[in-house]
Amino acid sequence: MKFDVMTLFPEMILEYCNFSIMKRAIDNKILDINTINPRDYSLDKHKKVDDTPYGGGAGMVLMVQPYIDCYESIKKAENSITIMLSPQGEPLNDSLVNNLSNYEQIILVCGHYEGFDERIREIIRPKEISIGDFVLTGGELPALCIIDAVSRKLEGTLGKLESADEDSFANGLIEYPQYTRPREYRGLYVPEVLLNGNHKEINKFRLKESLKRTKQKRPDLYNLWLNRQK
Ligand SMILES: C[S@@+](CC[C@H](N)C(=O)[O-])C[C@H]1O[C@@H](n2cnc3c(N)ncnc32)[C@H](O)[C@@H]1O
Repeated sequence: MKFDVMTLFPEMILEYCNFSIMKRAIDNKILDINTINPRDYSLDKHKKVDDTPYGGGAGMVLMVQPYIDCYESIKKAENSITIMLSPQGEPLNDSLVNNLSNYEQIILVCGHYEGFDERIREIIRPKEISIGDFVLTGGELPALCIIDAVSRKLEGTLGKLESADEDSFANGLIEYPQYTRPREYRGLYVPEVLLNGNHKEINKFRLKESLKRTKQKRPDLYNLWLNRQK
């Protein structure tokens, strides 16, 4: 899976991907992360990428020329998708992440300042994705959310001992409580059922806890799950 990230701040992307599971996936050639800076494509003599908005108002708007020239310089695979990070986009969730994991190449267009000149959207015609109903200063964190979440779905990214199958949302529920050593801490004990090695009982306990938590913390997901059981 190749990610091409259009960003004015490539270090933010590359630095994050230089640690832990992401780094291992890159070293194992499961992931390829490439950054392209629209500033390098600006025809302005000062490499300007933003300007004041027509009609007035606060902030700076990203200019169409550097973004389009930068975008058009990216070699597109047959099975690729272009995503613009935007608070106005479709909210990111596990099922969208699963869909994205089927592409060979994902191009991520990160905004900054007041956002994009509308013609960038009109020309690129990207899928717009939001990571929630709040506004961040830039698209780099949302891009990293997508890179990280999609990467976990790729075969080989998680080691044998790590699995996404039982994570929250994989079966429509949120995950059961987890424990590790010691058995007792400040009078709080690990549930007995997890210590006896009876996997049937353990699975029963975990499903019951998952259902309990989902009902309590995410009634919206719980109701969807109930409807799917009918
Ligand atoms: C300050 S925001 C621009 C917001 C824009 N003026 C609006 O109100 O829709 C700058 C950039 O951060 C990114 N961004 C901010 N919040 C985001 C979110 N919730 N999801 C995805 N991207 C976001 C986008 O790339 C956006 O272009």
